[in-house]
Amino acid sequence: MAHEIGTIMTNRSIASVTSANKAAWEASAHLHKSGSGWARLVEAAGRPGFSVLDETLTALLRKYRVDGRRAVQIGCNNARELISLASLGGVPVLGIDQSPAFLTQGHELADAAGLKLTLLEADIYDLPDGLDEFDLVLITIGVLSWMPDLPEFFRIVSGLMKDGATLVIYETHPFLEIFDPNCESPHEPRFSYFAKEPQVVTQAITYDGENHGKIEPSYWFIHPLAEIVTACIQAGLKLQELTEYPHSIREPEYDVYAGQTAQVPMSYSLVALK
Ligand SMILES: C[S@@+](CC[C@H](N)C(=O)[O-])C[C@H]1O[C@@H](n2cnc3c(N)ncnc32)[C@H](O)[C@@H]1O
Repeated sequence: MAHEIGTIMTNRSIASVTSANKAAWEASAHLHKSGSGWARLVEAAGRPGFSVLDETLTALLRKYRVDGRRAVQIGCNNARELISLASLGGVPVLGIDQSPAFLTQGHELADAAGLKLTLLEADIYDLPDGLDEFDLVLITIGVLSWMPDLPEFFRIVSGLMKDGATLVIYETHPFLEIFDPNCESPHEPRFSYFAKEPQVVTQAITYDGENHGKIEPSYWFIHPLAEIVTACIQAGLKLQELTEYPHSIREPEYDVYAGQTAQVPMSYSLVALK
């Protein structure tokens, strides 16, 4: 995702943040479906054993035995990761995302994979009543920082879990957020780890590190790791493991922080049970 940070916002409600973020993802969706990358993804989804999950997440999901377990992914985007769960024997059932344009892409990938999925267009903070409970909740790269309220988010996540269900989060490490790889001194901290106000992102949201021009502002929050863990526990979930990694799961410009002698944490996984 290419970030250009604008001014800091004040006092926004959850709904105004999530609707702004929805507009920004919608405006960016066509950029994710252009070029040969999309065609290759559709083709790959049609092959047996399709998976975009990296080694770390694959090993973690195997360890917590996803086989036969009914899964929901929150912030599923084009559902490529949700679909990939099938390669581990998991049962992808529901993807939730508030961007209909990405869910349309998700349907295309699911069709290519021959999978029947429900893809629900909804703001995670405003889910319809009567949703099922699941054995596995998956949250991956680039979701938590769009969330304006972590305690409420984890309360909702917990509501989607059966008793005994597993939550697996694999995310970018919030410590990395103090850096701006696109500035002149990328190794000097630029943002406070403890900033309460979100950053205002004014560029189209893509993962290729390119500048695709300005769009509607969206809001990106640095949630310190302690706040993530605390919100998870306070939602009644039992923390099983928290692992920090030196490898990057972000856009290519963040590679400048990888492979260093003095290494900062770049990603983490968290597993919790209900
Ligand atoms: C960075 S993408 C996730 C990408 C995914 N991990 C992957 O690698 O394909 C974040 C997604 O979260 C969704 N999202 C952001 N805020 C949301 C909200 N309040 N409710 C539901 N979805 C939301 C966005 O629409 C976007 O598709």
